[in-house]
Amino acid sequence: MTRSFVVLGGTGDLTGRLLLPGLAELVAAGALAGPAAVVAVSREEWTDEEYRGWARDRLAEHAAHVPEEARERLLGRLGYRQGDVTVPADLRAGLERAGGVPVVYLALPNTVFLPTLEALAEVGLPEGAVVAVEKPFGRNLADARQLNEVLHRLVPEEQVFRTDHFLAMQTVLNILGLRFANRVFEPVWNAQHVEQVEIVFDETLGLEGRAGYYDTAGALRDMLQNHLLQVLAVVAMEPPAALDAHGLAARKADVLRAVRSPEDPRRDTVRARYTAGRVGERELPDYTAEPGVHPDRGTETYAEYTVQVENWRWAGVPFRLRSGKALGADRHEIVLRFRPVPHLAFGRQDGEAHPEPDVLRLRLDPDAISLEVNLNGAGDPFDLERRALAAELPPQALSAYGLLLGGLLDGEAALGISDVEAEESWRIVEPVLAAWAAGEVPLLEYPAGSDGPSPA
Ligand code: BG6
Repeated sequence: MTRSFVVLGGTGDLTGRLLLPGLAELVAAGALAGPAAVVAVSREEWTDEEYRGWARDRLAEHAAHVPEEARERLLGRLGYRQGDVTVPADLRAGLERAGGVPVVYLALPNTVFLPTLEALAEVGLPEGAVVAVEKPFGRNLADARQLNEVLHRLVPEEQVFRTDHFLAMQTVLNILGLRFANRVFEPVWNAQHVEQVEIVFDETLGLEGRAGYYDTAGALRDMLQNHLLQVLAVVAMEPPAALDAHGLAARKADVLRAVRSPEDPRRDTVRARYTAGRVGERELPDYTAEPGVHPDRGTETYAEYTVQVENWRWAGVPFRLRSGKALGADRHEIVLRFRPVPHLAFGRQDGEAHPEPDVLRLRLDPDAISLEVNLNGAGDPFDLERRALAAELPPQALSAYGLLLGGLLDGEAALGISDVEAEESWRIVEPVLAAWAAGEVPLLEYPAGSDGPSPA
């Protein structure tokens, strides 16, 4: 079977910034032997040469780490087809141009997912074709159900790939290694020993010219509905029998089914947006003054909520998820805070503080793992000292998109989101979205460059 790759939205930001660089990495690694062709479909009236010129510039900007010779080899395989992705005849022409059994990748604004899938259903896809859909998967549960329904008309669920590139980040994958290839962590990976879990993705980045998308999404839809819930699912899932798509998706879905939405949005959620400030060397304006932003939408650039995973393993442990833009520092980490020891035989005086409990910190990008523990001090042997057992991990060979696309083209797409997971994730956040839309939770403000509206 000859695989081809058809990217719908082939002149968009995502294609230029992430998909083409991912493909170039695969060419450099000798891992893009399969596809007959890579064909981009988009509205611009360009020739193949004009498209390659655009793609060459994007690769120079976003894939400078890939040798030029590999980038040129990718460009040599690129074809372009002008067309409207919601028009069946245009899609048919793009698919015919690519030939083979396609991976059809929807790198499109999510408002066009549905008409595009409807048009694809009208054209029909060859046996074995894969359909990949970017996030956010709709804007609510009803959308997600509708998208799933059309996708299932198009190809079987095993051939649908809902992208979440966080699943292909090294540290997220390392949770699997840490938990399931070692004896020492799994026995304490539960409510009896873990007091709290935090999943944090604080970014120094501001809007980066993405108002068109971001202002209608906001931090909750952009990060917490998908990426951070997926990380939660990997942290909290039961051990799968095998690390294949089915095993992972089924175990992640079990976790998401068990997540109770924040009970009291006023207590359990925070929403905020940044005001003018300085992040490192950059001066950022008020979010509302960014080009393309409609202040009346009340879009949040910071979202936080705390949920419970209601099952035997996790009952009673709060999982706190937070993410925001234009914050003072990039803090991307999963933190497991353990319970205090049941008895401390260190002759503490009354009133003397007990040592901090153990903390396991899994840092994403740059990747590092550290376990903060209490050890005997250097002076008085019965004094305690805080030490970290730490490992810095070398950067992963392929970017998250390189890894995802490699899996897709090899037909081993284990790192996606299933239909059930997509719907459950919306079920979890919908009450929060509703409470926020109804103004039940105030929209706070934080200066760009600060730690955000609530303590880290
Ligand atoms: C994207 C979000 O999915 O993930 C962005 O749309 C966010 O807003 C990004 O900045 C974070 O992932 P990465 O890989 O760029 O750190």
